[in-house]
Amino acid sequence: MKTLGIETSCDETAIAIYDCEEGIIGESIHSQIEMHAEYGGVVPELASRDHCSKIVEVLNNALDDIPLESIDKIAYTSGPGLLGALLIGESFAQGLSTALNIPLIPVNHLEGHLMSPMMEFSELQMPFICLLVSGGHSMIVDVKEKGEYEILGQSQDDAVGEAFDKVAKMLDLPYPGGPYIEKLAVSGDPKAYDFPRPMINSNNLDMSFSGLKTSVLYTVQKIDDLNDNIKSDIAASFQSAVVDVLVEKIKKAVKLTNRSSVIIAGGVAANNFLRKEIKNLEHKNGISVYYPSMKYCTDNAAMIAFVGSKMSHEKYDIKSNARARWPLNEL
Ligand code: KG4
Ligand code: ZN
Repeated sequence: MKTLGIETSCDETAIAIYDCEEGIIGESIHSQIEMHAEYGGVVPELASRDHCSKIVEVLNNALDDIPLESIDKIAYTSGPGLLGALLIGESFAQGLSTALNIPLIPVNHLEGHLMSPMMEFSELQMPFICLLVSGGHSMIVDVKEKGEYEILGQSQDDAVGEAFDKVAKMLDLPYPGGPYIEKLAVSGDPKAYDFPRPMINSNNLDMSFSGLKTSVLYTVQKIDDLNDNIKSDIAASFQSAVVDVLVEKIKKAVKLTNRSSVIIAGGVAANNFLRKEIKNLEHKNGISVYYPSMKYCTDNAAMIAFVGSKMSHEKYDIKSNARARWPLNEL
């Protein structure tokens, strides 16, 4: 059984084919990052137009020598995301499913991120705790079973990736800034600046990053010569504050739920410092920590094809399901 997955929720045009026996057998991705970089963020209309012009080429690259006629069902991201971008993926998915006369399955992008490590680690079983940290979302989810997700805590303001991107902008780094902050932080002193760790001691699992971001801004504004050494120290101190909060919240989530596996997903899960610090929890807390490989941390279609492959399709018909907002508890 082959499921073709389509992802166009933001600035990546991606298509992948998941085979129930062999796993991912084809995939291709076109990133729009360079196009949006000069605007310092994703420009929705440009994103939609670019998906439109690249999607056929991405399909051909993903299929390579897999015959299109051998695909059994189509899964596509129908939300959350940029509405115009989602509609391009949806229309393309509908066209394919109509032409091939095969089922069409709308998939929640966040569910794709939550499930992505299961595609790579066959020993990983539900239930588990997922720290989902991306440009748009920061949440700790109790993944009980497929389709049953309890949000244990989430950011009350900025998403972690968003905070990374905004701090990067303050340091004159390119967009998206997360990877640049990480790179700079390697040579910086994480104790150089004592940035706040908002909500680290709160009893719940909610988080907040906007105060931290503002504190970095005030610090930067007071510096006359923002040289590379100072930038590295700020990056390292900021990153360390964020990771301290995330590690503490994961510890609380494990204690609260007694789960024995933790996964980290979403774009920020590509951060090696975060990966290392959460991995360190394994021994002391008796848990196993799993990460998707780097290419499956950020947006991709493999995770959409994988989730689609697990879904029955009888209840879906051809209608527009695209939605900018689609919380996990409304699946
Ligand atoms: O999951 P993703 O590709 O797209 C969304 O659904 O948001 O996440 C993108 C976010 C961006 O904010 C980017 O700066 C951040 O993930 N990111 C990182 C790293 N790589 C990507 N943040 C910190 N360190 C990284 N290495
Ligand atoms: Zn994402």
